[in-house]
Amino acid sequence: MPARSPHRRIAGWLAILALAASPALAQDGAALFGGGEGLQARLGRVDGPVLPPGQFSCAGCHGADGRGGTEGGSQTPPPIDWQSLTAATPQRPPYDEGAFARLLSQGVTPSGRVISARMPRFQGPPQAMAALFAHLRALDAAERQGLAADSVAVALPRSPG
Ligand code: HEC
Repeated sequence: MPARSPHRRIAGWLAILALAASPALAQDGAALFGGGEGLQARLGRVDGPVLPPGQFSCAGCHGADGRGGTEGGSQTPPPIDWQSLTAATPQRPPYDEGAFARLLSQGVTPSGRVISARMPRFQGPPQAMAALFAHLRALDAAERQGLAADSVAVALPRSPG
């Protein structure tokens, strides 16, 4: 019998590595989203004063599920869950990874609008931006399966009688 080709072995290992890497990426994204660690936040402008680390998390303003803030009024943080981000609105085309990174670092939407200074500008490595984007997608997938950010849906049988 011929021995297993080294190429197939390498391909197998690569597949395993890819599988192992993707949840880690989403994991990082969760820390970034919930705690803001790993990104530098600046007040209002790209060159605004640096804000204290870890104080301005996405979840703090946009909600743990990314469904948006509840303050009311035009300055309310909008929903940034996957569905909202990847759908076009009358104000802007959908976000992709590049547009998302640009919004975070420069505060410019895909339509070219500069957003309000209420949202800090975030600087960080491209991997961090990609991990955040991946996290929003993973969050959406988890919620569809009944695993919301702050609850788990379970089906209980009706009690007899
Ligand atoms: C201090 C509150 C605050 C924090 C922290 C914050 N945001 Fe925002 N964000 C806002 C507000 C307010 C807006 C709307 C600004 C506007 O439209 O002028 C916004 C807008 C956005 C938009 C644009 C949505 C759209 O439909 O165009 C995205 C995307 C976004 N935020 C993602 C994030 C992410 C990711 C983080 C964490 C890295 C974050 N935000 C942190 C307040 C915040």
